[in-house]
Amino acid sequence: MEGKVSFLPATASAYAGEMNWLFAGLIATSVFILLLVFGLMIVFCVRYRKGSGADRGDRMKKTWRVEVAWTAATFVLFMGLYAWGANLYIELHRPPLDATDIHVVGKQWMWKVEHPGGQKEIDALHVPVGRPVRLVLSSEDVIHDFAIPAFRIRQDAVPGRYETLWFTPTEVGDYRLFCAEFCGTDHARMGGTVTVMEPGDFQRWLDEQGSTESLAQEGAALFRQFGCSGCHGAASTVHAPPLEGLFGRPVPLASGETAMADDRYIRDSILMPRAQVAAGYPPIMPSFAGQIGEDELLKIVAYIKSLGTKERPAR
Ligand code: CUA
Repeated sequence: MEGKVSFLPATASAYAGEMNWLFAGLIATSVFILLLVFGLMIVFCVRYRKGSGADRGDRMKKTWRVEVAWTAATFVLFMGLYAWGANLYIELHRPPLDATDIHVVGKQWMWKVEHPGGQKEIDALHVPVGRPVRLVLSSEDVIHDFAIPAFRIRQDAVPGRYETLWFTPTEVGDYRLFCAEFCGTDHARMGGTVTVMEPGDFQRWLDEQGSTESLAQEGAALFRQFGCSGCHGAASTVHAPPLEGLFGRPVPLASGETAMADDRYIRDSILMPRAQVAAGYPPIMPSFAGQIGEDELLKIVAYIKSLGTKERPAR
């Protein structure tokens, strides 16, 4: 990878291959239009230069048919390119259900990565080859942008919200990872390495990290520490929504709308509990904005997610 100049970065994810085709399509279209316009210009310049004997009479009259035809043809061509690109973009944000969640928190000036098993890394990301990975991005301070050119992915990490994208690495190896949004003094140094490993090697690597607790277990401890269990716990006398079986389900809201209980909804409910109140419950939850860091939030979300697989208790 290093020390070699090439037209494209390595193609190391399934998505990267598709992006290469889109890129080739855009280049081909641009070159075609360029050659058409400049070719005609040059031909006319030479043919009708001053003093040439070319026939200047019998000029073709422009008709509305010609206008409509070329306008429609270019419209269809460029809408086709747009649809192609938009389709790829939408695909990037629709992870398959079996994708592994990896949390990435941007911070001046480093990337903090947490695996579901509680393993942590900084400015590094280890992933297994051939398995879909879903990244959940957040930021602790300003807007950063998580970019892996070899995977052809990049996504802003925005303070105050979760952004998700996914990829399936296809080639074992080391690839560069960057911050692609100017975020202050050390922006240029905010990057690291993505290491794609064979699944067996990856499992060994996970085991070697010596993590004692999974994200969900750490989240469970925080859930008690911040007093969430006081209201949401089974023994509570406060009328608060139960969280078992919540994740991934639609939640009827007091406003009459319905929200999907995903990472973002749970995060928002902790920080801005009044924004989307579950139907049938009084809006009594206090906001935890400013008290819980992004690191802790993602653990609590992981904990609530882990409750999602259990049976919803009868009430
Ligand atoms: Cu973070 Cu640039």
